[in-house]
Amino acid sequence: MIPPPPMDKLGQALRQNTLVRIIEQFGEQHPDSHLKDLVIDEMGPGREIVVGGHRVVNFGSDSFLGLDQHPRVQQAVERGLERWGTHNGASRAFSSVRANIEAEEKLADWLGVESVLIYPSVMLANLGAIPGLVGRQDVVVLDEQAHHSMQEAAKIAKANGAKVAAFAHNDPVALEETLKGLRPYRCALICIDGVYSMSGVIPPMAELNGVARAHDGVLYIDDAHGTGVLGKQGQGTVLDALGSYENTFVVGSLSKAFSCAGGFIGCPESFHRLLKIRSSPYVFGGPVVPPYLEAIDTVIDILRSEEYEGLRSRLDVHIASLTQGLSELGLVVIGGATPIVSVLVGDEGDTLNAGKFLFDRGYYVQSVLFPAVPYHGGVLRVQCNANHDDNQIRGLLDAFAALAPMIIRSRSQGGVTGFDPVALTA
Ligand SMILES: Cc1ncc(COP(=O)(O)O)c(C=O)c1O
Repeated sequence: MIPPPPMDKLGQALRQNTLVRIIEQFGEQHPDSHLKDLVIDEMGPGREIVVGGHRVVNFGSDSFLGLDQHPRVQQAVERGLERWGTHNGASRAFSSVRANIEAEEKLADWLGVESVLIYPSVMLANLGAIPGLVGRQDVVVLDEQAHHSMQEAAKIAKANGAKVAAFAHNDPVALEETLKGLRPYRCALICIDGVYSMSGVIPPMAELNGVARAHDGVLYIDDAHGTGVLGKQGQGTVLDALGSYENTFVVGSLSKAFSCAGGFIGCPESFHRLLKIRSSPYVFGGPVVPPYLEAIDTVIDILRSEEYEGLRSRLDVHIASLTQGLSELGLVVIGGATPIVSVLVGDEGDTLNAGKFLFDRGYYVQSVLFPAVPYHGGVLRVQCNANHDDNQIRGLLDAFAALAPMIIRSRSQGGVTGFDPVALTA
């Protein structure tokens, strides 16, 4: 028999991978309710999107303040295009446009850190900086629920010779035990999220930092979901929790509330050049394209102005009415500290069907499944926006009111119920 060509062998082997099998199964078993990998054909007006001919209100965007649609931000992108063209066409190891340096200086000033380095995304910042900051004598210790990008970064650090371990979620005692168990080491890089986007929980940063300091550790805080939308002037969670940036690297997103593109690391001045030299994606990859760098400046001006307070209070009203309305329906609501409000469904198929139920009524929310959440811990993730209007929030709550009995029944029966949206509609 002729052996299959190597490409076929590779494809067959990949189809045996557990994650691939689970995800393909979701698609096959729920072809009508599988709202993943969506293509948006049209945007607007407001937060509307058109998907497959359906116009729905988008509750699945991280642009929490609606700055993606802000005229001044859009004009800044156009200005950047005129000033710099579409791309610098070089790794930053060779050259950066002035807008890049200006954006880093302005970010550092706004955040209150000594220095900032911009990367093309937070994922790439973590993949570059975490392995870059440690050597063979060091350890990387992660909260067990730290974002996937940091978990992947730790694998690179491990391949380079650093020891890697995890500690129980948000538990300073567990962190201490883990660090003691790893001795001897030179330094520990302790990786946590600034706010956990699936639960909205802010970690006990002061306690974790106390343990870190006592054990030759530095905190590495990925505040992607806090940047631009939590804290004073949108500075995120770290300053509020710790009072200073001492003993921390703080990572922020320029793609979520900022509505530009990229990620950044705030660090002491002495680390700025070290990170440049040691971060592979910085050296061997391209930069954020210049028009978006120009817009960072404008977004910071907005965050520092009274307009931010106005946007934030609109968002707060939406978060409060949504959280209260969903709780009153008897649903298990997770979150509240961030603009992300999640409703626990549980069973994977039921979570997909619930998302489709809302979609058919004109509301898109994300059905989040394993591995982003634990297996049988599926949630409907609702992302509130300052640009939503009150009618859209009320309309979503009405749709949830129709859906709630199914979610409650599904959960009371252990999740797997053959959830039938059609039966409820009838
Ligand atoms: C905590 C955290 N880190 C990193 C990322 C990845 O960010 P980016 O899209 O900039 O790569 C996300 C995205 O959701 C995130 O929530």
